[in-house]
This record gives sequence, structure tokens and C-alpha cells, in this order.
Amino acid sequence: MEPVMRAALLLSRAKNVVVFTGAGVSAESGLATFRGAGGLWEGHRVEDVATPEAFGRDPLLVWRFYAMRRENAKKAQPNPAHKAIAKLEELFPSLVVVTQNVDGLHQRAGSTRVLELHGSLWRLFCAKCGRTREDHQVPLPQLPPRCGVCGGLERPGVVWFGEPLPEAVLAEAERVSSQADAMLVVGTSGVVWPAAGLVEVAAAWGAAVIEVNPEPSALAYLATVQIPAKAGEALPALTARLLEVQGARA
Ligand code: APR
Repeated sequence: MEPVMRAALLLSRAKNVVVFTGAGVSAESGLATFRGAGGLWEGHRVEDVATPEAFGRDPLLVWRFYAMRRENAKKAQPNPAHKAIAKLEELFPSLVVVTQNVDGLHQRAGSTRVLELHGSLWRLFCAKCGRTREDHQVPLPQLPPRCGVCGGLERPGVVWFGEPLPEAVLAEAERVSSQADAMLVVGTSGVVWPAAGLVEVAAAWGAAVIEVNPEPSALAYLATVQIPAKAGEALPALTARLLEVQGARA
């Protein structure tokens, strides 16, 4: 049986669904993934732009990288994968998107329950007093931006290498993963922890794991079904199949 059909059958038996996403889900919106040829980590050294030490050394350099990412993300549009994921909420009212992405495209596509494990490009917080705020201006009026309250340097509200994930977000992601009947794993290499561990949690608690990725990820060993295709093609096809399966049963 073809993998899209197998995945649709698995989903048709599920009630609680989690969609776990990585940079690959935004690739067809024109946003670079991190690893591999042309990836963000090929053009930039992690240690220069995505660590607290880098920010301490050269905040302007770090901010230039994030200003570039904010500009690209603002220009990008949600693609058919983001839209199909948002539409799945109609079929699974408790569906939760757990994303490693910071671009905000799931929300722009209409997903209402999105857990951002690695923060957001659109949040800033003061490195001195901790004040957090949302800011969607592109470009930002000054780089690096400064806190309106204490005058301290503001930093991007993203999780950098060597930093812990936001505790409450991770706890909620673990809870929904442990309760999932099915988890869709879309466009992630699955090499960054603890995020990748959520797929282990879901599988250990009995979820069917459906991987959508043109290349098998490091988590492929946990997959019940692998759909070796681009997210923007596979997810609309999967949703259509699911509706057919449900229609045939009605
Ligand atoms: N559809 C589906 N998957 C795709 C597509 C596509 N159109 N294009 C690429 N991919 C897959 C790649 O095969 C790869 O497995 O997306 C994955 C992207 O992997 P990474 O670049 O490693 O991105 P991600 O898994 O999100 O990285 C995790 O690493 O640096 C950190 O904080 C950053 O959140 C990020 C984390």
C-alpha cells in the first residue's frame, strides 16, 4: 500500500494528533533549512551567531543575522504544507503543532495551537531586565535594539545553542506527545535535542509516527510510515486521502 494511504488510515483512527515540525516545512516558502548544502549553518558559524557567548562578544553581528532572518520570514508566505496542517484542526479539534521553527508561518497559516520550542523571531527580550515584547517591524528602527524600560540590550527571543528550552513549553509538548495517537514528523533532521526526544516520547506511549521528509531523518527508526516527499506536496495529498477515507466510512 502506498505510504500516503497508510498514513491516512492511521490518522483516521486517531483522536489526538501532534504535528512536530522543523525547518523543512518552511523550505517551500523559500526559507533556508539549517543543515546541508546552502543551509544557514553552512553560511554562518553557529558559534558566531547563535550562542549567548556570541551575543556577549558582538551583539550587532548576531542582530544582523537575526535581522536578515526576520526580513526573509516576513517576506515568506505560508506554503501548502502549513495550510494543510492548519486545516487538519477541522478534523482533529485537539491537534497541537509543536514546532522548532521561529518564523511564525504556522500561525500565519491559521494554526491556533502552536508550541514554539525554540522561541520566535518576533519576540524580543531585554538581556538586562528580562522584559519580553513582541515586535514585527522590519527593519527594526535601531540595531541592536534597546529596552524601552531599562535601556539594556535586547536580544532575539530564540533559544540558542547551549540554552535550555522554555520549561513550560517543553512540559506541555511532552504532555501532548505522550497523549498522541498519531504524530506527524515533518521536515526535521531530528538531530537537535531535547526537541527530537518528543518523537521518542510519542512512540513510547504508543503513537503512530508518520514521517514526511524527502530524506529519512535521524528519527526514521521510530516511523510507522515514511512519506518520502516534500511537505508541500505530501501534506495536501494526505489530507485529501484522509477525507476520502472518512467519507467512505460515513
Ligand atoms: N519538505 C519536507 N522536508 C524537507 C523539505 C521539504 N520541502 N526540504 C528539506 N526537508 C528536510 C531535510 O531533509 C531535513 O531533514 O528538512 C530537514 C531540515 O533539517 P534541519 O536543517 O536540521 O532543520 P531542523 O530539523 O528544523 O533543525 C533543528 O536546529 O539549528 C537548530 O534551532 C535550529 O530549530 C533548529 C534545529
